[in-house]
Amino acid sequence: MSGGIAAYKAIEVLRRLRDAGYHVAPILTPDATRFVGPLTFSALASEPARVGLYDDPQMPIPHTALGQSADLIVVAPATAHLIARYAAGLADDLLTATLMATASPVLLCPAMHTEMWEQPVVQENLATLRRRGVLVLEPERGHLAGGDDGTGRLADPATIVELVERIVAGYRGPLTGHRVLVTAGGTREPIDPVRVLTNRSSGRQGYAIAEVAARLGAAVTLVTTTDLPLALDVARRIDVVEVVTAAEMRDQTVFAAAQSDVVVMAAAVADFTMDPAANKLKKVDGPPHLDLVATPDILLELVASRRDGQVIVGFAAETTDVVSNAQEKFMRKGVDLLVVNDVMTPGAGFESRTNEVRILMRGRDPEVISMRAKESVALEVLTRVVALLPQGDQ
Ligand code: CTP
Repeated sequence: MSGGIAAYKAIEVLRRLRDAGYHVAPILTPDATRFVGPLTFSALASEPARVGLYDDPQMPIPHTALGQSADLIVVAPATAHLIARYAAGLADDLLTATLMATASPVLLCPAMHTEMWEQPVVQENLATLRRRGVLVLEPERGHLAGGDDGTGRLADPATIVELVERIVAGYRGPLTGHRVLVTAGGTREPIDPVRVLTNRSSGRQGYAIAEVAARLGAAVTLVTTTDLPLALDVARRIDVVEVVTAAEMRDQTVFAAAQSDVVVMAAAVADFTMDPAANKLKKVDGPPHLDLVATPDILLELVASRRDGQVIVGFAAETTDVVSNAQEKFMRKGVDLLVVNDVMTPGAGFESRTNEVRILMRGRDPEVISMRAKESVALEVLTRVVALLPQGDQ
């Protein structure tokens, strides 16, 4: 806990964590003790609450003992000051010293007034921490101290505890021990230094597959053209590789596929690229003639160099003759499973949070997965992937 009025809500977080069976060691900053008494936390927690670096003669270096033994450190509330000190690498009290002395995941739950939350310096500090792998559960909108309303209210204790449960769940599932490679987003092929050829893929379905694969126990590599936020509970289990063009995607995907048991090509790879102009094409020169050349078909290359037992999933975006086009693509690509989107269906395909797909799989009739969240579609796809993995390997 750091020193904000929301520190009183940390009591509820602590109580719920204890009810869920967790061992909780409370640390308060000196300022937090102005809002809540350490005694309250000591009474409810698994260990006495700690404040100072030098308070306990039995424990001369408490920050390392606490930092090393924690499975997860939750800072709730995290004030603007705490966030700044953590981002700057300061270790001037027990809480910041413990944050510096841990290799475990850290979840920050910021709480502050809207004006403070919106300060660029606060957002930049959080961006820095996120880049370093710190998880941030954003504050909610609602009533704030002093009768104000706005964004900055500590996330609901139930939400915090639910997220803690998911982070420490240790995700063991049917993909445990397997590496899954997922590609996501639409590639961008430069025309000149300013313009690109691209498509409407948002990357959401690929991200959903990466996240669900991690929850099923997989180690995940995500080769992506888009920078979407990853679900906090699995962010640390997914290696993100950012690419732009079809050629970069090909190189990173072929490289990662050699180590993967499952490959899911959810990306919308441009079929054509060009040698980009060195300088911006000028309007006065009239409509440019673009000399397009075919990109390498990554999926075909992956299928041709497939490892023993590797399961390869392709995607298809269709607008016409969906059933026959999908069947033809399934045969031509040589994949184990093809997930087909009719992108003309409202609520399906690009830029949508939901999807409706048709799944083609060797030896099975095509199946229609009715309209649902992309996470649920991901689970349907991965459940079928698990069934295709070599027996005894699951
Ligand atoms: N794909 C790929 N490399 C490419 C183009 C596509 O690996 N250069 C992959 C996509 O990631 C997807 C699958 O192939 O998994 C099908 O993509 P799609 O564009 O629907 O198929 P195409 O073969 O390009 O056929 P068309 O565009 O003519 O429908």
